[in-house]
Amino acid sequence: KDTKNVVIIIFGASGDLAKKKIYPTLWWLFKDKLLPPNTFFIGYSRSSLTVQMVRDNAKPYLRTVDGEQERLDAFFARNSYVQGSYDKREDFAKLEQYIRSSTEYASCNRVYYLAIPPSLFMHVATHLKSECFSPDQQGWSRVIIEKPFGRDLHTSEILSQHLSNLFTEDQVYRIDHYLGKEMVQNVVVLRFANRILAPLWNRDNIANVLVTFKENFGTEGRGGYFDEFGIIRDVMQNHLLQVLSLIAMEKPLSMAADDIRDEKVKVLRSIRPIELKDIVIGQYVANSETGKPGYLDDATVPAGSLAATYGMAALYIKNERWDGVPFIIRAGKALNETKCEVRIQFKDVSGDIFESGVVHRNELVMRVQPNEAVYIKCMTKRPGMGFGAEETELDLSYSKRFSKVKLPDAYERLLLDVLCGSQVNFVRTDELREAWRIFTPILHELDAKAVKPLPYAYGARNGPPEADQFLRNLGFTFSGTF
Ligand code: BG6
Repeated sequence: KDTKNVVIIIFGASGDLAKKKIYPTLWWLFKDKLLPPNTFFIGYSRSSLTVQMVRDNAKPYLRTVDGEQERLDAFFARNSYVQGSYDKREDFAKLEQYIRSSTEYASCNRVYYLAIPPSLFMHVATHLKSECFSPDQQGWSRVIIEKPFGRDLHTSEILSQHLSNLFTEDQVYRIDHYLGKEMVQNVVVLRFANRILAPLWNRDNIANVLVTFKENFGTEGRGGYFDEFGIIRDVMQNHLLQVLSLIAMEKPLSMAADDIRDEKVKVLRSIRPIELKDIVIGQYVANSETGKPGYLDDATVPAGSLAATYGMAALYIKNERWDGVPFIIRAGKALNETKCEVRIQFKDVSGDIFESGVVHRNELVMRVQPNEAVYIKCMTKRPGMGFGAEETELDLSYSKRFSKVKLPDAYERLLLDVLCGSQVNFVRTDELREAWRIFTPILHELDAKAVKPLPYAYGARNGPPEADQFLRNLGFTFSGTF
């Protein structure tokens, strides 16, 4: 309904995120006519680039098909580029002038996408506020930031404080792209639109919850960024904890952003910080059978690095619904497969009358990627004359049931959310604070004690062998692949 022009300014236009994710996402949205009709794009970075160079960089990721050339030209015709530094106020003044000088951009709504290294966040935010947020502007302005949001509670608080001195909470959009994934969004619907699940969703019926993130590739020459953060900060403290909070939260008052985020914060507040006994960390080593290199063989990784490339942690939620139920989150690079799923393992049937070992626990599995699916593992009679029982699945595979629907990419959905002013899928300051409170003590302890991650071979199923034992100790029962 808002007919103003929209201008999307991409800081870090020459970087990896911009070329692999942001430009492709903007192109898909443009191509599908999902953006407001008068949307324009300005790339900004230190490099001396032209729009043609931005286009060439993004080309391999745009996934264009035959017949789209004209539309693609139309998209890039709406792009422009401004070169500038991140720490000079004058350059932001130049950017502001550029925005105002163009008639299409005058009095527009603005999205500033900070796709830049964390060391530059504060500079950019300060100059942005002083040069580009003038009170005479008529449109709205929103700022998108990408993780990492600090390295621990303290550094994250400094950043949050800085941002909140400059912007209001409703102007800041902290992206956690896992919140934009179809199946993660489905958690709320599955839980709160199905009568059959609600009575089972508690400590009386659920033995444990396992949230898994696996990648079948290592750092492969891009160890610089990763090594500074490690798997706990890169994936567990944000993506996996966000998924956990949706699984565990109480029913929100409504679907409104703050009602949902209030419940997520509440559940995070009930989680005690992780201790050393609650965690297993690993680092991949070369696999002599496949010839795949170890983490430390990567030339971009500092020699002797203690960064974890695998982590599994048990979290406990101290409330009436979940007391005593382990919520296990695990993430690993260089494992046997790439997948993300949530596995809710139900307790054993009481008074089992079948042959011992035949009946397996029920599981509800939500496969986030690849091949989105929800299935329930349940026991059924083996068809035929006998009376054997067998495990089978009640299966909702998206590729079969929703074959005609194109599932949007997480970034597409999240960028549209920003344009619509919906913050439901973005991380609020208090949520972020709680997430760091849970992880900061263990991160500091691992550093202070220089804890050496356990080795696992590139391509292992579940990180170091100790990880399976850790799962068994938590009462997780093994059946099938997980
Ligand atoms: C990013 C992490 O946030 O998520 C990467 O920094 C990881 O290390 C990526 O590879 C995974 O995202 P997706 O959407 O491919 O599962």
